[in-house]
Amino acid sequence: MMRQAGRYLPEYRETRSQANGFLDLCYTPKLATEVTLQPIRRFGFDAAILFSDILVIPDALGQKVAFEEGHGPRLEPIDPARIGELAGKDVTAFLAPVLETVERVRTELPQETTLLGFCGAPWTVATYMVAGTGTGDQGPARRLSLGEPERFQALMDILVDASARYLVAQLKAGADAVQIFDTWAGVLDEEGFERWAIEPVRVIIEKVRAEVPGARVIAFPKGGGARLTRYAEGTGADAIGLDWSTPLEAARKNAGGKPLQGNLDPMRLIVGGKALEDGVRSILEAMRGYPHIFNLGHGITPDTPVEHVETFVKLVRGK
Ligand code: CP3
Repeated sequence: MMRQAGRYLPEYRETRSQANGFLDLCYTPKLATEVTLQPIRRFGFDAAILFSDILVIPDALGQKVAFEEGHGPRLEPIDPARIGELAGKDVTAFLAPVLETVERVRTELPQETTLLGFCGAPWTVATYMVAGTGTGDQGPARRLSLGEPERFQALMDILVDASARYLVAQLKAGADAVQIFDTWAGVLDEEGFERWAIEPVRVIIEKVRAEVPGARVIAFPKGGGARLTRYAEGTGADAIGLDWSTPLEAARKNAGGKPLQGNLDPMRLIVGGKALEDGVRSILEAMRGYPHIFNLGHGITPDTPVEHVETFVKLVRGK
């Protein structure tokens, strides 16, 4: 599940209260290790995902990031004329505590449990850097990318380089695979999708594989299901994550045989009962005989009842 160590777990809230805010939790290896392991202990998932956030990259580049309770992330919006000042930072040195968390988690996890590292895709990270927060349509970054494409490209180049270094460092620290989250890929038109969603992820994967041969990468282009064939080929990702709006019968045909991850609507997990049972069953049926990682189509929200997650795991495993 995405954000499986989220606010729906009481033990997460308990550990979070020991930190001085969300970013401090991300940067305190002992606590970040604990929240990464909590859902594994409770539910026995097949994979753990590193506890961190996609916005640690702008933080490492020197853009101030804050998480306000109930409001999501807040960044000081970047000045397009000063994008160059973000270049040349040693992000892996800044993010050393996160890399230490990867090491600790890999040591403490059961051998058979996969550890996923991750980063945000440059497009999605850039949308927050430009707007300073999530907006309904990420219009500020879309306007900058169309109005000042060279400046925007300079920002993307910085993010590609930083993200590749960060993923390489996570893999070297013990992550078994990495996932690239492009939450806002779906707001781009066809030309934008090629240039800002596919190309930067392609370059990151190429750079990562040059340093870590055979590195395995999952890419999640939320809202990109209609462009699945192009995305799978163009990025070179090993597996693709799907949001809940993507029809699975078509996705199986369009993914070029690559494993697919997804795509239960997180609302079914909140509602539970028949909505949950039907949702799980139809995904299992649609993906039978195809390499598939059962997952939510987007992040779990704080109002999800823990018992529904227990039921969900049993339903998926047929128990
Ligand atoms: O699954 C995990 O627990 C792994 C860690 C993880 C988090 N964020 C922790 C988190 C991962 C993989 C992410 C990814 C992330 N973060 C994305 C991409 C995937 C997606 O969900 O779309 C994005 C866009 C972000 C940026 C971000 N971080 C937002 C918009 C928010 C606010 C969300 C909200 O519902 O208010 C966060 C906060 C965040 N990241 C939380 C967690 C556990 C909640 C923080 C809290 O305890 O208050």
